[in-house]
Amino acid sequence: MTTSSYHEEEKLGKAYDHRLMRRLLRYLRPYRVTVVISVALLLIVAGLQLVGPYLTKVAIDNYIAFKNLSGLTEIAVLYLAVLVFQFTVRYIQTYIMQLMGQKAMYDLRMQLFSHLQKMSLSFFDKNPVGRLMTRLTSDVQVLNQMFTEGVVAIFGDIFILIGIVAVMLAVDYRLALVTFVTLPLLILATAIFRKKVRGVYRLVRTRTARLNAFMQEHISGMAVIQLFAQERKILNDFDDVNSSLRQAYLKTVFYYAIFFPVVEVIGAVSLGLIIWYGGGGVLAGSISLGVLVAFIQYAEMFYHPIRDLSEKYNILQSAMASSERIFGLLDTKPSILPPERSVKLETLKGEIEFREVHFAYNQGEPVLEGVSFKIQPGERVAFVGATGAGKSSIISLLCRFYEYQKGEILIDGKDLRRIDPQELRRQMALVLQDVFLFSGDILANIRLGNEEISLEKVKEVSEYVNADQFISSFREGYGEPVGERGSNLSGGQKQLLAFARALVFDPRILILDEATSSVDTETELLIREAVGKLIRGRTSLIIAHRLSTIQDCDKIIVIHKGKVREEGTHGELLRKRGIYYRLYQLQYKDQEVGVREQEPEVR
Ligand SMILES: Nc1ncnc2c1ncn2[C@@H]1O[C@H](COP(=O)(O)OP(=O)(O)O)[C@@H](O)[C@H]1O
Ligand SMILES: [Mg+2]
Repeated sequence: MTTSSYHEEEKLGKAYDHRLMRRLLRYLRPYRVTVVISVALLLIVAGLQLVGPYLTKVAIDNYIAFKNLSGLTEIAVLYLAVLVFQFTVRYIQTYIMQLMGQKAMYDLRMQLFSHLQKMSLSFFDKNPVGRLMTRLTSDVQVLNQMFTEGVVAIFGDIFILIGIVAVMLAVDYRLALVTFVTLPLLILATAIFRKKVRGVYRLVRTRTARLNAFMQEHISGMAVIQLFAQERKILNDFDDVNSSLRQAYLKTVFYYAIFFPVVEVIGAVSLGLIIWYGGGGVLAGSISLGVLVAFIQYAEMFYHPIRDLSEKYNILQSAMASSERIFGLLDTKPSILPPERSVKLETLKGEIEFREVHFAYNQGEPVLEGVSFKIQPGERVAFVGATGAGKSSIISLLCRFYEYQKGEILIDGKDLRRIDPQELRRQMALVLQDVFLFSGDILANIRLGNEEISLEKVKEVSEYVNADQFISSFREGYGEPVGERGSNLSGGQKQLLAFARALVFDPRILILDEATSSVDTETELLIREAVGKLIRGRTSLIIAHRLSTIQDCDKIIVIHKGKVREEGTHGELLRKRGIYYRLYQLQYKDQEVGVREQEPEVR
C-alpha cells in the first residue's frame, strides 16, 4: 500500500478561499435564477419564523389578559395560517435547492469523468483507483452539501439572527440585553469547538481515505490473499486501519457530546436570566407577560442558528478541501494532448518506423534506449525478448499511451506526435494477454457499444476467428451476459472474444501482446488458426513467448534491455547464433519438460 495514495487528503485548507469559492460558484451559474429564488424563499421563511413569538405576545397581552376569546381564536387561526405558509415555502425552497444541488453535481461528475478519459496511462499509474473514486463520489457529495446546506442556508441563518436581535431590541431593549449577556460565552464555546473539531475531522478524512485505499487494494487482490492464506494477517492489518478510523470518529463524538450540552446549558442559563429578570419585571408591572413569553421563544430560536453556523463552518471547510482536490484533478493536464494542428490520417497503409526512440516511465530509469526499426505495410513482425525487455513498452508508445522523451515514431511517414491519438487508435487494434471485459453481454463486449456494427457482422467475424462455436453454445448466444471480469469465460474463450473485438473494427495495424500465452491446449489450435486469419492483409506486430508461434513471421526483432539487438527471419537469426538462437534453444529444451518461460542467458 502506498502512503502517497491518501497523503494528499491530509492537507487542510482554509475554511474560506475566495479563489476556490469563485470557481465553485461557477457551477451554480446555470442555475442562478434558482439560487436567487431559493435565497428569497429562505428570507421569507426566516421572516415567518419571527412572526410566531410575536403573535404569542399579542395573544397574551391583548386578548388573554382581557378575556377576549374571539380575538384569541383569530390570533390562533392566524398563527396556524403562518405555520402552513411557512411549511409550504420551506418545502418549495428545500426542493428547488436540492434539485439545483443535484444538477450541479451531475455536471461536475460529467466533467470529472470526461476529464479522466482524456488522461494518458501514466496518470493512472500514479493515481490509484480508490483515490479517483473518492473524487467522483465523496468529494462531489461534500460540495453538494455545501451548495444545498451551506452557502444559501447561511444567508437564512444570518438573517434570522439579525431579525431576532432587531425584534428583541424593539420590543424590550432591557430584556434583550439580559438575553445577550450569555452571548460571549456562547461565542467562546463555539470557537473552541470549531477549532477542535476541525482537527478531528481532518483525522477522520485521512483515515477514511486510508481505509478506502486498503479495501480497494485488498479486494482487488483477494485471490492472492486467499491463495497464500494471508487472510488472518490482512485482517489484522485491516483491524489497525479500521480501529484508527473508529478512534477518529470517537474523538468527534467526544467534542460533540461536550459542545451540544454546553450550548444547552448556556441557553438554559440565558432562559433563567430572562425568567428571573423578566419575571421580576412582570411582577413590578414594567414588562408584560406576553413580552416575557415571546422572549422565551425568541431566545430558544436564537441558539439554533448559532449552533448551526459552526456546523456550516465545518461544511464550508470540508468543501474547500474537497474542491481543492477536485480542481487539482481537473487542472492536471493530460500528458498527451491531441496535436493542435493534426495531420489528416487517411486509411493507413500500415508502415511503422521507430527512430532512436528513448523512453522512461520514471525519470532516470530508462526503459527504451534508442530503439530503431522499420516495418513495411502488411508485414508480420514479431518482437521477442526476456520479460521486462521493453516489448510492451514499445507497443504502448505506438498506441500513444505514454509520451516518449527522445526520437521519432513515424506511421506511414507521419510524425506520431502530429497525429490525433483517437484517429490513430481507430485504425489499430491491440489484443493483450489479459482481456478486459465490461459487464454486459457478449455482443456489447465485441462491438463495444458501437451500434453501427450489426449482429450479423459480429457473427461473421466471430465465426472467422473461431469464437462463434463457443458463443453459440451459450443458452443466450450473443446475448449471454458476461460478468464484470468475464468469470464465466475461460482464458481461451476470452482471447477468442478479444480477437473478434479486434477484427470487427477492421484495423490496419494489429498488435497481439502475448495474446496467445494464457491459453489451454484445447483452444490453442483454434487460436493459432484464428491468428493466422487475423493478421492477413494488415500490418501485424506479435509479441509471443512461444517462439513456435512466430517462426513464419516476415521479420523477428529481438529486444534486449531496451535495445534492438537482432533483426531478421527465423532462419537468419538461428544462423546468427546470437540471443535468438539461445532463446530458441532454451525453449526447445523447456518445452520438453513443460516449462514455458525463462530468462535467456545473455552477456
Ligand atoms: N507502467 C509502468 N510504470 C513503470 N515502469 C514500468 C511500467 N510498465 C513497465 N515498466 C518497466 O519497464 C520495463 C519494460 O517493461 P515491458 O515493456 O512491460 O517489458 P516486456 O513487455 O518486454 O516484458 C520493465 O523494467 C518494467 O518494470
Ligand atoms: Mg510485456
